[in-house]
Amino acid sequence: MTDFNRNPNDDIEKVLYSAAQIRECVVELGARISVDYKGKDLVLVGILRGALVFLSDLSRAIEIPHSFDMVGASSYGSATASSGRVQITKDVEVNLRGKHVVVIEDIYDSGRTLAAIRDLLYVHRPASIELCALLYKRKSERARELPIRYSGFEIPDKFVVGYGLDYSEMYRHLPYIGVLKRQVYEKD
Ligand code: IMP
Ligand code: MG
Repeated sequence: MTDFNRNPNDDIEKVLYSAAQIRECVVELGARISVDYKGKDLVLVGILRGALVFLSDLSRAIEIPHSFDMVGASSYGSATASSGRVQITKDVEVNLRGKHVVVIEDIYDSGRTLAAIRDLLYVHRPASIELCALLYKRKSERARELPIRYSGFEIPDKFVVGYGLDYSEMYRHLPYIGVLKRQVYEKD
């Protein structure tokens, strides 16, 4: 049960990346995308809800004209390990036909979500699809190995929250990315 009197910062074991570090990284990714997609019809497609914060900052760091939309997917429920099944909860509304799509994700973990979303988006006949994940989880093996064209930080295989990433829908609003204390999810 969530204690609403609690300071969410107290549940963080360690801050991995500060708001300033994230900002710097996002600006750099935005600059790369601006160069790579110059003169192209670019659409960013963010995956709800974890990529919402990242997408909103990244879009504003991209200097070339582009549009964005969001798709819904959920694979986690409230657990801290992937459920293995990806549910698509919302399709895109922007017309992707002939456009250059960059899928925006908060974290590349098992790869199942990105793989499922990429398959879904191909149905809309875009000219190209590339993948972008702010965090790249280091893992010895992964359900789906995917080429992540744009990635921000490589992190250890720990459960992290903040900057859009949640545990049981909480902590998304934290401006930094941190490792959640074990006792927070072990008591649930
Ligand atoms: P994948 O399908 O296993 O790659 O998982 C991707 C989704 O799982 C992401 O969109 C996140 O919502 C969630 N996820 C994976 N690792 C973490 C984590 O460390 N913290 C919070 N959410 C995570
Ligand atoms: Mg999540």
